[in-house]
Amino acid sequence: MIIAIDGPAASGKGTLSRKLAEHFSLPHLDTGLTFRAVGHALLEAGQPLDDEEIAAAIARKVDLGALDRSVLSAHHIGEAASKVAVMPKVRQALLEAQRHFAAQPGGAILDGRDIGTVVCPDADIKLYVTASAEVRAQRRTDEMLAKGDKADYEQILKDVKLRDERDMNRAEAPLKPAENAHLLDTSKLDIEGAFQRAVSMVESVRT
Ligand code: DC
Repeated sequence: MIIAIDGPAASGKGTLSRKLAEHFSLPHLDTGLTFRAVGHALLEAGQPLDDEEIAAAIARKVDLGALDRSVLSAHHIGEAASKVAVMPKVRQALLEAQRHFAAQPGGAILDGRDIGTVVCPDADIKLYVTASAEVRAQRRTDEMLAKGDKADYEQILKDVKLRDERDMNRAEAPLKPAENAHLLDTSKLDIEGAFQRAVSMVESVRT
């Protein structure tokens, strides 16, 4: 069974995907981390974020087994990821690795922006997880404050909107629900509520 999960930044799709992976005992790939790994490597090497050839060369070497969420989740790495994610050659290199992951026997869960539309168009089930920009910005703010970091809600809201704009309006694999995706709006749901709905959606295609 292949489960494809897409949605904008901070929609809750990451947490949801991890819980679903555990529940259905499926391997899980957060494809956002693959773009983040490219952004991170460029920043570490002091390379520009707008050179497609350099970025693509790094993307071809990304090791899916070495993606470290604790390092890659930093806000500035997400910004860098969103910039390299507009580059067709970077997407092509990562696409091959992502499809290889999806093809493993027994299936997999992948989450990102274009899983249902591009990476796994034949997935058994597609979920599009969303929430209002205000709710997503509030969640990010709360997460950062809980970690003891400084957080400015208004600035985070601006960043969330800017990221949406970049992810939804790029020419290559823009963020949008696949035609046959199940919509899951988590604006008024906590993670447990969202998880229960997602499980029912997956169960509906299993039987
Ligand atoms: O989900 P995230 O915040 O970790 O993603 C970081 C960036 O990577 C996001 O702004 C867009 C890009 N991305 C993408 O273009 N396609 C994906 N399948 C996953 C992420």
